[in-house]
Formats: sequence, C-alpha cells, structure tokens
Amino acid sequence: MSRPILEARGVTKQFGGFTALDGVELAIGPGERVGLIGPNGSGKSTFVNCLTGALTPEKGAIHFLNEDVTALPAWQRARRGLVRSFQIPRPFKKLSVIENVQVPLRFALSEPPPTGIDRRAMDILDSIGLDAKANWAPKDLSQVELRKLELGRALAANPRLLIADEAMAGLSDSEVDEIVALLERLNGEGIAVILIEHIMRAVMRFSQRIVVLVAGRKIADGDPAEVMRHEDVERAYLGQ
Ligand SMILES: Nc1ncnc2c1ncn2[C@@H]1O[C@H](COP(=O)(O)OP(=O)(O)OP(=O)(O)O)[C@@H](O)[C@H]1O
Ligand SMILES: [Mg+2]
Repeated sequence: MSRPILEARGVTKQFGGFTALDGVELAIGPGERVGLIGPNGSGKSTFVNCLTGALTPEKGAIHFLNEDVTALPAWQRARRGLVRSFQIPRPFKKLSVIENVQVPLRFALSEPPPTGIDRRAMDILDSIGLDAKANWAPKDLSQVELRKLELGRALAANPRLLIADEAMAGLSDSEVDEIVALLERLNGEGIAVILIEHIMRAVMRFSQRIVVLVAGRKIADGDPAEVMRHEDVERAYLGQ
C-alpha cells in the first residue's frame, strides 16, 4: 500500500463497563475501496464514530493525512476530508434537495469553491443523479433517492475518505446496484471509500479489501475471497 491516508491505532471504546471496541487497527490507502463488515452490534458504527469524531475513544489514536486528529472535533475532521454518511438519512426536512447540499457546502469547506456554492451544489446533484429534483422537498424523494442525497451531503465536504454506513439497507437489488455504481464512480474520482454493509453481494462487488469486526475486535483484514473463507468469519456469520 502507498502511504495510508487514514491510520487508526489501537482504538478502544467503552460504554460503561462494556467494551465496544478493543484495540482496533486500520490503515486505508489513497483511493482504496474497503468493505467493513461484522454482525449486528460488532462495533462498526462505533468505530466510524471514533474515526470521524462523534465519539472519543478511551485509548488509541486516529491519524488522517499525516496529522493526529484524535483530539479534533468532527467538523474539523470533515474539513480535512474525513467524511461519513449516516445509517439513517438525516435531510433538513424544511429545505429543498439543493439547499440540503448547499448547507454542508457552506459549512464544510474552509473557503468557497472556485465555481461558487450554487454551481458546486448543482454539480453534486448531477453526480448523484438528483439534478432534475433540485427543488423538490426531501419528503417527496424515494428511499433510494434519500440515500443518494445523504451521499451528496457527504460529498459537499470534498472528501478524501468517504465512510458510507449502511447506505443500502432496505433497498431493492437494482437500487443496491445503483448505490454501488455511484460509490464506484466517486471512487473513480479519487475518493477512498469504506463501505459498511450487511448486503454481502454489494460488499463483494465493491471491495478490494474486507475488514471484519466481531465483538469489537478486528478478526480479519485482506483479500475479499480469502477473508470470506476464514473460519472465524464463517463462524461469526453462521452464528456459533
Ligand atoms: N452510545 C452508546 N451507549 C451504549 N452502548 C452503545 C452505544 N453505541 C453503541 N453501543 C453498543 O456498542 C455495541 C456496538 O454497536 P454498534 O452500533 O457500533 O454496532 P454495529 O456493528 O454498527 O451494528 P449494526 O450492524 O447493527 O449497525 C452494541 O452492543 C451497542 O449496543
Ligand atoms: Mg451500525
């Protein structure tokens, strides 16, 4: 791997007496496509929260673009290009589709884009296929369109690393394919992507590498086919 853009070292997170993450290590190279999987409650979202700054780990460090960001708040990490989308889309309900992208554009960028906020917002809607619905209200969007808007809002921060936490749950097969294709396109523009997903067909199609969390520990990290043959992974998925 060329020099990683993200390095998580020994990340440990406790909730009361419960250890949700136990010394998790992860390195992500520039432009990499990594699938992060694990059973429900294995710590995937908690790990993302630690990476992006919503939670502070008890132990460990997060380095992003050669800087220790462990103590930085989420918005400062986002400004550096470490960006996530949420498991449950959270659009501003009273704003239109394009305004939903303009708000994070104004907020996330330390300086306005050279083409201006409005142009950049339209470009983002274009790239997620929602340009024709720029003036719609989020409530009139379909489930897959809401997922795309959620990714569009993440794109507003101009990510170097995009973490998509279950961007496909509840979608039909063809809608899952649409989101995978969208993530592939964004990756093609040089954005590294961590895909957190239970839909294995999507994970296998998308990922160059798969990382497996079980009960807060990383139990596998490597080539997708090899990782899926790993007996601990099989056991975790088939249920002991
Ligand atoms: N804020 C919190 N307070 C207490 N416990 C929490 C908190 N957030 C998560 N947990 C617990 O930590 C564990 C890991 O949860 P997490 O949401 O990270 O799992 P996950 O791998 O994302 O699961 P899923 O696949 O269902 O989204 C779970 O046991 C969960 O109940
Ligand atoms: Mg989760």
